[in-house]
Amino acid sequence: MKITNAEFVISAVKPHQYPEDALPEVALAGRSNVGKSSLINKMIMRKNLARTSSQPGKTQQLNYYRINEQLYFVDFPGYGYARVSKTERQQWGVMIETFLKDREPLKLVLLVVDLRHAPSKDDQMMYDWLKHYEMPVCIVVTKADKLPRSKWDKHIKVVKETLQADPQDPVVLFSSETGKGRDELWQIILQKIDN
Ligand code: GTP
Ligand code: MG
Repeated sequence: MKITNAEFVISAVKPHQYPEDALPEVALAGRSNVGKSSLINKMIMRKNLARTSSQPGKTQQLNYYRINEQLYFVDFPGYGYARVSKTERQQWGVMIETFLKDREPLKLVLLVVDLRHAPSKDDQMMYDWLKHYEMPVCIVVTKADKLPRSKWDKHIKVVKETLQADPQDPVVLFSSETGKGRDELWQIILQKIDN
């Protein structure tokens, strides 16, 4: 995928702020600090368009990035960050659930998990939600560079088993450090938004 144009569009807090041009949308869900924003940057080959940070819980809105006038990446706020109040957590839940249920241009959700750890209870809940709403999901297992190759298969198996992943759902091993998985993930995305 050749990126000719990538731009940040809006940090949306309320549905009326979501773009209205009906371009297909690909959302990224996952724990705080798992590497969602880094993944976007790698996909579009830009160092810092999507804001990343080593401090978890940074992204609090739905951040929209328009790519090649062809699609949007929608960066969800990360979940599972302990120092978030109960009220904030509930607001988060309502916002994400409304989005998943009602957002017509949404074509695919990338559920981003860390290769090193078994998916959390929150990851399992997110995956179950996505399946419940019959949303197409791609499981992206990132930070592959953090483990030696010899451990990849075993860890991917743990991810699939913990999520009780549907064998139909694609699983992509990724690294924002090395670019591993980038081409494969673009293929999956382009195929999803084309139909
Ligand atoms: P929130 O916005 O807080 O939900 O976090 P996020 O999921 O967007 O994570 P972010 O992309 O900001 O990355 C968090 C940290 O992990 C940063 O320090 C990144 O540099 C690092 N990181 C992300 N992806 C990778 C990867 O593939 N490999 C390695 N080694 N580090 C990564
Ligand atoms: Mg982020």
